[in-house]
Amino acid sequence: MKLVTLPSVKGDYNLKSYEDMYTSFDWKDVEREFSWSETGKVNMAYEAIDRHANTFRKNKVALYYRDETRNEKYTFKEMKDLSNKAGNVFKAYGNVEKGDRVFIFMPRSPELYIATLGAIKLGAIVGPLFEAFMEGAVKDRLEDSEAKVLVTTPELLKRVPVDQLPALKTIFIVGSDIEEDDKYLDFLKYVKTASKDLEIEWVDRTDGLILHYTSGSTGKPKGVLHVHNAMIQQYQTAKWVLDLQEEDIYWCTADPGWVTGTSYGIFGPWLTGTSNVIVGGRFKPEDWYKTIEDFSVTVWYSAPTAFRMLMGAGDEIIKKFDLSCLRHVLSVGEPLNPEVIRWGMKVFNKRIHDTWWMTETGAHLICNYPCMEIKPGSMGKPIPGVEAAIIDDQGNELPPNRMGNLAIKKGWPSMMHTIWNNQAKYDSYFFPSGWYVSGDSAYMDEDGYFWFQGRVDDVIMTSGERVGPFEVESKLLEHPAVAEAGVIGKPDPVRGEIIKAFVALLEGYEESDELKGEIRQFVKTGLAAHAAPREIEFRDKLPKTRSGKIMRRVLKAWELDLPTGDLSTMED
Ligand code: WT7
Repeated sequence: MKLVTLPSVKGDYNLKSYEDMYTSFDWKDVEREFSWSETGKVNMAYEAIDRHANTFRKNKVALYYRDETRNEKYTFKEMKDLSNKAGNVFKAYGNVEKGDRVFIFMPRSPELYIATLGAIKLGAIVGPLFEAFMEGAVKDRLEDSEAKVLVTTPELLKRVPVDQLPALKTIFIVGSDIEEDDKYLDFLKYVKTASKDLEIEWVDRTDGLILHYTSGSTGKPKGVLHVHNAMIQQYQTAKWVLDLQEEDIYWCTADPGWVTGTSYGIFGPWLTGTSNVIVGGRFKPEDWYKTIEDFSVTVWYSAPTAFRMLMGAGDEIIKKFDLSCLRHVLSVGEPLNPEVIRWGMKVFNKRIHDTWWMTETGAHLICNYPCMEIKPGSMGKPIPGVEAAIIDDQGNELPPNRMGNLAIKKGWPSMMHTIWNNQAKYDSYFFPSGWYVSGDSAYMDEDGYFWFQGRVDDVIMTSGERVGPFEVESKLLEHPAVAEAGVIGKPDPVRGEIIKAFVALLEGYEESDELKGEIRQFVKTGLAAHAAPREIEFRDKLPKTRSGKIMRRVLKAWELDLPTGDLSTMED
């Protein structure tokens, strides 16, 4: 069957010819952009903000911010001054030094960005925490990272078990009427009076920058450490893939609690000196279209689940808005269905460009570019400077059209530096032959386009968020009624997958809808709303291996009415 491809669209793009660049490009060419080419040292926050504040971009808007109660804008010069102030506050009142972990647990607001940049200017490692995390999730992350400083709000502070976190020395609270003592300080009060001159900590390219916790199929969430060197690729992909240009107004809908919200919500746009729109609050289709119209957004980066929700809200709403400002639309996080691409053509008259990458990869790896043909359903081609392949379980490259492990040749600039406190986990990502194994299965067609097929492991992608079944199972087991729990991703037309839990109850507990609701709520308040199973099914017993491991593969087969496969390891 011949696929209907979408031809490239004429325009003056940063990436003019994919093929030419793929054969000629060298990452060394990008390094000249940044200060280390002269001094050997660097700092991400300086390159993202101060560098522009010292040029013609001084009075250009760096940040447009809006939520239900605020509507503000900040120039590059203002962001420079405010982040310097934040840095001074961290230094003077939090004793923050290079390498310390500063965690930020708050909803999107200008203060979140200012605090993040301020901490980076001191050479600290920032750990962003998604605002929906509940106590268990917050504790795991602060404990593993041994965070020294936390920035949070009075509401979210209630979810921080401070007594159980001996490494945590200072908590800066962002809000009004803050009651202070030795440990709890009013952030804004000190920022107000702090000096706007700060001595930046110049670091090496391989020094820690940001710690993102993400889920695997086993164990607790792991801390993926990225270093300042990531800027090379974040800058270059913001140019080639996001195609950011001087006049653009850019909106990335992701929260900085996830990697998209830092790599392309903070670093990419600001490294390129772009005006960045940040919107707080909940998802409402009307508000989203209004954001595009009000700010005249030209480049929009979102996710398939969001597009599908907008699709579901109907095309009538769209007619109320003038969205002709949109120039370039992109997607990440889950498979972008051809149906969504067709919808994008119909309602925006724009191609939606899929991009593939992961928390661990720090920046884009396989993408669709404005200058190239799109094959709907394909993630596109590797960015210049990156080698991708499909390999078998022994690490051998497979020919086109064969399904296997999607792998990337080690050494791209934004590759994670390590897994916090877990070198063995880090090592387990790589084959001795130098391939990084993504955990995704895919194939490459004869034209070099990559096609996503699924996760190799049991990791669940729900509404673009990565959830480890083990974490949910562990939380379920803490519930007094639960004897056994197994968690799978169940295909869902809007969310990609939803979380489904199979639960066996302890003796003496009765199956009921009320109990289901209670168990669901238990995960919601203990872990996070997006990690709570939308479906719970009671079973007398769950399929286990003889060593007692829940066989999720069998649960999935039950759910989808598929053959259960080899059951030789299953207990009787
Ligand atoms: C996993 C990584 C990188 C930001 C968002 C997610 C899935 C990512 C795509 C895509 C199909 C995708 C993969 C990957 N994924 N992009 N374009 N098409 N699947 O980051 O939370 O680290 O999750 O997201 O399964 O392994 P993450």
